[in-house]
Amino acid sequence: MELAERVKRIEPSATLVVLMEKEKLVARGIDVVDFGPGEPDFPTPQHIKNAAIKAIEENKTKYTPSAGIMPLRQAAVEWHAKYLGSGYAPKECVINCGGKHSLFNVIHALINSGDEALILAPYWVSYPEIVKCADGTPVIVETPAEDGFIPRASAIEKAITPRTKILIVNSPSNPTGAVIPEDEFAKILDVARKHGVWVLSDECYSHFVYGDAKPFSVASLPGAKDHVIVSASLSKTFAMTGWRMGYTLAPQEISDAVLKLQSQSISNPTSIAQYAALEALRGGMESVETMVTEFAKRRRRIVDGLREIPGVTCHEPAGSFYVFPNVSAAVDGNGPGTQADTVQVAKDLLEREHVVVIPGEAFGAPGHLRISYATSMERIEEGLRRLASFFRAEKPVSSVAATRG
Ligand SMILES: Cc1ncc(COP(=O)(O)O)c(C=O)c1O
Repeated sequence: MELAERVKRIEPSATLVVLMEKEKLVARGIDVVDFGPGEPDFPTPQHIKNAAIKAIEENKTKYTPSAGIMPLRQAAVEWHAKYLGSGYAPKECVINCGGKHSLFNVIHALINSGDEALILAPYWVSYPEIVKCADGTPVIVETPAEDGFIPRASAIEKAITPRTKILIVNSPSNPTGAVIPEDEFAKILDVARKHGVWVLSDECYSHFVYGDAKPFSVASLPGAKDHVIVSASLSKTFAMTGWRMGYTLAPQEISDAVLKLQSQSISNPTSIAQYAALEALRGGMESVETMVTEFAKRRRRIVDGLREIPGVTCHEPAGSFYVFPNVSAAVDGNGPGTQADTVQVAKDLLEREHVVVIPGEAFGAPGHLRISYATSMERIEEGLRRLASFFRAEKPVSSVAATRG
């Protein structure tokens, strides 16, 4: 059997191997500290769940318009205008099945064979794969750890060619937690405008910001609308990962293209989830504030704890719920490790200390580990203790040398 080229071009999730190993340990009754989660450990707020229950009871269980119910499109643009300063009309909003679905649709609506998409590394695992699925070429622009992984307009401009169609930005970032400062965003928008490149703004973590950082969207900058597409998600902000709710904000022509793709694939996002999303967007931000206050405390603890471990360096992320320490010095004592090193570290950590982390290779950044603090303070303390014991061991990763062979 011959599968389609597009399927052969893309890789399954790089995080899967570690997670499968984890499941085996959990099945054996082993106490695993899981720093892997890409979702809040909070339940979906009750008022949102109630709205879904009510929708079922009122038989709002049939097809909806492909772009989503109009009150939800209205609520999405109002929420984005209120909290992130944009100015879209409901007809420029399409409701999608999660932020990933929005990204998938937008990329497929814009990328032709051979078009280039600029992706900032360390990057979220799915960007290159979605671009490849659309037969585009991912072009990676590095953001250095010494600069807090902040993308700079100057580096982006150097990577632009006549084939560049889109630039994907993700602030706050998964995996680094980096938040792009507003003035840098303005410069990035200028570069995009100058070269006719679309800025695709993945705002999945918009409200997970700490310290002086404030929720911000590039779509709020003057004149942004003609150059920016927003992919938004309710998954993390409202602890709704399983509901699959997100939306796209884009000029009419692009919204219509997204809608066309959507109408011929999913028909419409789940009706019940749409009523839950409507309540989330209209029901106030209290639950979000509670979550963010808790995440701020955890971030402080985990950054401090990691910095106490010899050989581990950790920048202080201003957003999301991940830290992205550099462990290459602790791995071999000889500077940055090889491609396979942090994959091996993650495997050894799981095997010896029963701690789940995601290796940096998954995000195009060997030498680092992604640690999620979407877990309780008690588990964070236990995990830090185990990480310290692992990295303090004299030769922590004996198999690294062998894998280099
Ligand atoms: C950076 C980033 N973008 C998008 C998504 C997709 O989120 P959703 O659950 O809304 O599809 C994720 C989920 O992990 C993410 O980390």
